[in-house]
Amino acid sequence: MPTQQTVPLVDLYAQYALIRPEIDAAIQSVITRSAFIMGPDVREFEARFAEYCTASFAIGVASGTAALELTLRAYGIGAGDEVITSAHTFIATAEAISAVGAHPVFAEIDAQTYNLDPDAVAAVLTPATRAVLPVHIYGQPADMDRLMHMAQAHDLTVIEDAAQAHGALWRGRRVGTLGHAACFSFYPGKNLARMVTRARSQRRTPTLPSR
Ligand SMILES: Cc1ncc(COP(=O)(O)O)c(C=O)c1O
Repeated sequence: MPTQQTVPLVDLYAQYALIRPEIDAAIQSVITRSAFIMGPDVREFEARFAEYCTASFAIGVASGTAALELTLRAYGIGAGDEVITSAHTFIATAEAISAVGAHPVFAEIDAQTYNLDPDAVAAVLTPATRAVLPVHIYGQPADMDRLMHMAQAHDLTVIEDAAQAHGALWRGRRVGTLGHAACFSFYPGKNLARMVTRARSQRRTPTLPSR
C-alpha cells in the first residue's frame, strides 16, 4: 500500500539549510557591527537589487505594503483620485490605495494570465483616474506594453506591484523597470525572502526620493 507523503507549500527551513553557513555569517556580522537599522548592508542590497532589476535605484522600506503606499504618496495620489487595479490580487494592493485616501477601482483580469486586462482598464477609466496599479501575479508580468500606451494617452502614473515577481521578464525586460515605479515584497514566503521583512520601491528616474 503506497504511503502518503505531505509536501509543504513552503519549506523555509529547507532553503535555509542549503546556505546556512553563509546566512549565519552575514547575520553574525550585522550583530557584531550593531548595524541593525539602515547601514552599509541596506545600502549595498539597495544598489545590488537595483542593478539586478536594471533600475536606476531602489529604496528599502518596511514592507511591500509600505512600498505601495509610499510610492502612491510620492506621486501625489490621494483623496478624490481613482486608482485602477486588478480584481485578482492580495489585499495589500487595494489597502495601499485606500490608505492614501484614494479610491481603488477594480478591473477584470485576463482569463489566460490572471493579470489586469487592458480592455477592462479602458472600460473603467474616468476623469478622476490618476494611476494604474498592475500586479504581476504569480510571477507572470501583466501586459505592460498596452498599459503603458494607455497611461501615456491619458497621462496616468503606472506603479507595478511586483511583490510576487522578482526577476520576471516582460519581452526581455525586468519587471520593476516597466512602469513609472515598482514595489517588491521580501516577506519570508516570497520568491526572494528575508528573515526580516523589508521591501523595495524603485523607479527608473531618480526623482522619487526628493518628493
Ligand atoms: C501582490 C502583493 N502585493 C503586495 C503584497 C504586500 O507585501 P508585504 O507582505 O511585504 O507587505 C503582497 C504580499 O503578499 C502581494 O502578494
